[in-house]
This record gives sequence, structure tokens and C-alpha cells, in this order.
Amino acid sequence: MNDFYSRLARYYDQMYAHIDYRGAADRLHEIIQKHKQSLGNKLLDVACGTGTHIMYLKDRYQAMGFDISEEMLAIARNKCPSITFMQGNMISMELNQTFDVITCLFGSITYLTTEDELRLALQSFSKHIATGGVVIIEPLFTEETYREKGMGLNCLNLPDIKIARSNVSRREGNIVYLDFHFLISTREHGTAHFIDPSPMGVFSLDTFKNFMEENGFLVKIIEPGFDKEFLILGIKE
Ligand SMILES: C[S@@+](CC[C@H](N)C(=O)[O-])C[C@H]1O[C@@H](n2cnc3c(N)ncnc32)[C@H](O)[C@@H]1O
Repeated sequence: MNDFYSRLARYYDQMYAHIDYRGAADRLHEIIQKHKQSLGNKLLDVACGTGTHIMYLKDRYQAMGFDISEEMLAIARNKCPSITFMQGNMISMELNQTFDVITCLFGSITYLTTEDELRLALQSFSKHIATGGVVIIEPLFTEETYREKGMGLNCLNLPDIKIARSNVSRREGNIVYLDFHFLISTREHGTAHFIDPSPMGVFSLDTFKNFMEENGFLVKIIEPGFDKEFLILGIKE
């Protein structure tokens, strides 16, 4: 389990307060309306995290959320009490129902580190989508867009807690380690340091396309993405 999500879920929304989730939800709605051919409006946000996309989509869709982290889901349930949020791994979802829309946004698919895992996840999405429904995936990067030694810094400066997350990414074969270093200061515990390696899978765009086509999707690339370069959209034929 990723340390960031299990240890710092309660600060996630503040650390990503600069992300325009409302704008992303509005554009997502436009994209869905343009491409979806099924008649229903059931939406599943896979790797929904703290549920912010759902918060902005729930009046337009019959929405549900799914994530591996109980800590992230606890925040999501608190924010959207009327919504069902389920815990599990996207590579082995067994929800016994289909959806008209499945989203997997903000780089979450990139937590899968092997082609076998990616194939299983896309099979799982295919099993849970209605004919004519759309799957929208936003990878953190692909083989084509990954830049070695990318650097990042994210700081949270609240009265009772200071968090600095700094990183330089490095690649070993087909896995990228984001190598987040966290410094967390509180009056109670002083300053703690921990490293979250955050291994991420590097797949080519063709690998995504091929696995989606194998699973009965007509694939389109939509540029730009919300936070990343592009979105991969699949319409279930
Ligand atoms: C970058 S966050 C994105 C959360 C949310 N979609 C957003 O846009 O704020 C990545 C999320 O992926 C979840 N996650 C990582 N691996 C997963 C897996 N195999 N199955 C389901 N969720 C996973 C994490 O728990 C985390 O909530």
C-alpha cells in the first residue's frame, strides 16, 4: 500500500487544492455526452481517492466510487455521504453490475507496474461497462511522455502541521520510482522524514490501445488531459 495515501489521506485535498476538479468534472461531462452511446447514466470512478470528481459529478450521474485505500475512502464517504464507495483493487473488481461510464483519472492507472496488471485492469473495466458505455483513463505518463529525472515539490503550510514533499523520478526498466521524500513537522512529534518510493508502470500508448482493443473498445485519444497530456477514451462496442 502506498504510504502517501495510507498515512496522509487527511491532507490529500489540501495538498492538491490547486487542481481544478470542478473544471475537470465539467469537461468530463462534455466528453462523456459527446461519446457515450448507452442510454443510462451510471458512473464508476475507479481509484476515486477522496471522491472530489464524484462530488462535482454526482448531480449529473448515478455515481459510485472505488479505491484500494480505506483511508482515502473514509474522506470520500464523509464528503459525499449519499454515495456508495467500495474498497478493492482495480485489477480484480467484482461488482456484479455494469456502468455507462468508468473513469480512472489523475494518473491512478500508472500505479499498475506490469503489463499483466494493466491487462487485468482493462479486462475488469470491460467486464463492468455497458455496450456503448465509455471508459476514460488519464495515465500519469506513457513511454512517449515520461521525462527522466522529473522533479517536483509540494508544500502544505497549515498552523499545526507542515508537510514538504520533494522528489526526483528515476527509471529502472519499465518501472519509474517517483521517490517522494516527505518531511512532516508537528509540535507533538517534531519533524519526521519518510520515503515513499511510489513505483509506477511505464507503458506505451500502443500497449494501452492494444489491450483496450482486445477488450472490445474503440479507442480515441483526447488532448489535452485534465492534469496530464492526454486522456485515453474507449467506447465499448
Ligand atoms: C493520484 S490519486 C488520485 C485520486 C483521485 N482520482 C483524484 O483525482 O484525486 C491515486 C489513487 O489511486 C488509488 N489506487 C492506487 N492503486 C490502486 C489500485 N490498484 N486499485 C484501486 N485504487 C488504487 C490510490 O489509493 C489513490 O487514491
